[in-house]
Amino acid sequence: MKKHNFSAGPCILPQSVLQQASDAVRELDNSGLSLIEISHRSKPFVAVMDEARALVKELLNVPEGYEVLFLQGGASLGFLTAAYNFHKEGEKAAYVNTGAWSKAAIKEAKLLGEVEVVASSEDSNFNHIPAMGNISQPSLHITTNNTIFGTQFKSMPQLNSDQMLLADMSSDIFSQEINVADFDLIYAGAQKNMGPAGTVMYIVKTESLGKTGRAIPSYLDLNVHIKKDSMFNTPPVFAVYTSMLTLRWLKGIGGVAEIQKLNEAKAKLMYSEIDRNPLFKGFAQESSRSNMNATFSITQDDLAPAFDKMWNDAGINGLKGHRSIGGYRASMYNALPLESVQVLVDVMKEFERTHG
Ligand SMILES: Cc1ncc(COP(=O)(O)O)c(C=O)c1O
Repeated sequence: MKKHNFSAGPCILPQSVLQQASDAVRELDNSGLSLIEISHRSKPFVAVMDEARALVKELLNVPEGYEVLFLQGGASLGFLTAAYNFHKEGEKAAYVNTGAWSKAAIKEAKLLGEVEVVASSEDSNFNHIPAMGNISQPSLHITTNNTIFGTQFKSMPQLNSDQMLLADMSSDIFSQEINVADFDLIYAGAQKNMGPAGTVMYIVKTESLGKTGRAIPSYLDLNVHIKKDSMFNTPPVFAVYTSMLTLRWLKGIGGVAEIQKLNEAKAKLMYSEIDRNPLFKGFAQESSRSNMNATFSITQDDLAPAFDKMWNDAGINGLKGHRSIGGYRASMYNALPLESVQVLVDVMKEFERTHG
């Protein structure tokens, strides 16, 4: 049995959430019906959607003037949605290029107008978050955590009040406290810290919408979804329900401030071992290291099969790095316990003892 799931996403979810979600697929709250066979407009499901949105607001201290949506299309459709709703007609949009997902966002934005890449770490294979000068464009898009390369913004860019900050937070949403008021748009695919794949969450500052001067297809128009309370079309009921359960779980264990402490402890334990152990080498520059995805490699390639066997035998899953950088990636999302990181660190120590 794989007990320690370091998968990059879809990824580990709390066991209690999996249990409740599977119960609800059989029967939702003694209703005699499955979660996935009731109408999305029925009272019980409307209550689920309302609770999911309310929990996002509560957990992230979302201020007045923002709406929360649960839609479909993943973060990949979010790239286009962000551009359609915020990229002003005839103006340049600023993007920071910190990896494959930023590049994907830039590609979509280019369909609508000119993009200026204001900072990039591509020439060092995205091993750090690049420094940024002053931004003059009306909007700036960032990827707060770079799942593949294991880098993460440590502070958010501060813009003028008439500029808009847009962020793909797919792989670090709910992992640390953020100031939502810094952002005009936050979006995140559910399948890391929130739930199963199938829904993407948006937090949008309503007064920033409707200013692009372009016609927006209905499904991509965030105002359409706001007016319909995320029910413009049939929502992904299972993904929303399970996300709601995970958010309840997060609230139950003390909320984002509490999970941030745990995530910092996991990252410290992991990176200390990567730095200490002569058989391993970290990929990301220290000041840019992600608390969610630790990327590293083995210093002697011929030892890789032996290491792979050891972590597999220890019940660890999902440690292989993304094909674009190779090596290893330990994804330490909210639901991963500290004990799992300790198991991996112990394997690395044992590997050094037997192969060093
Ligand atoms: C940071 C980031 N953005 C976007 C995506 C794409 O998300 P989706 O598969 O929901 O479209 C991913 C997927 O892993 C991601 O990690």
